[in-house]
Amino acid sequence: MRKPLVMGNWKLNGSKPMALDLVTGLTKHLANIEGCDVAIAPPVVYLDYVQKLLADSNIILGAQNVDTHLSGAYTGDISADMLKEVGATHIIIGHSERRTYHKECDKFIAEKFAILKESGLVPVLCIGETEAENEAGQTEAVCAKQIDAVIDLLGVKAFNNTVIAYEPVWAIGTGKSATPAQAQAVHKFIRDHLAKLDASVAQQVIIQYGGSVNDKNAAELFTQPDIDGALVGGASLKADAFAAIVKAAE
Ligand code: G3H
Repeated sequence: MRKPLVMGNWKLNGSKPMALDLVTGLTKHLANIEGCDVAIAPPVVYLDYVQKLLADSNIILGAQNVDTHLSGAYTGDISADMLKEVGATHIIIGHSERRTYHKECDKFIAEKFAILKESGLVPVLCIGETEAENEAGQTEAVCAKQIDAVIDLLGVKAFNNTVIAYEPVWAIGTGKSATPAQAQAVHKFIRDHLAKLDASVAQQVIIQYGGSVNDKNAAELFTQPDIDGALVGGASLKADAFAAIVKAAE
């Protein structure tokens, strides 16, 4: 059986006092969680600080991005080994905000997936369609293309011990979550798509849903058989709300 993973993506939010407050709240609320893995991805400058705050906790440290290179003249970038050194293990790549604002393409994201695997880190690969693509009936084609970029570069077995986050772009930060049935249909498509190449890889891969998940809608989303937790943005900034989402996934 797959163990769900609820991951908080703080995006471009936070400060040291906020991190202290939020992590203190989370470690208190989530001390005895066993049926769900929990991760948080603060902005990169706070990773070291948050790692120390998490020292005695079972909350996993994640990050929001990685470069495709391990070192060299790449001003402003952060390598997989640097993330590893500060204790981050689950690294978000391919988020729609990076695809949109930083023009990241599928091939580049697949290279990030590769460097994370090489460094022994866990890629959290975000995929999902825009509203226009959804309305044009292209959801499955878009998700397949985003996954196939990784398969083309690395083969399907690269998805062992990794996470896919299905995040319909129209649901991110809008308060308009996909319905449980809508999300389940796409999650099943994603798992079946992988299963066509390797059934055991498909069975073990964690497929999170992301997009306006909150403490009210999480439980029903998690009743769906192919939804293995959530990638949470806004609601991950409040300890109570995030803890309630984790408890709904347990
Ligand atoms: O990475 C998280 C997603 O973009 C979802 O964000 O929960 O604020 O809609 P949200």
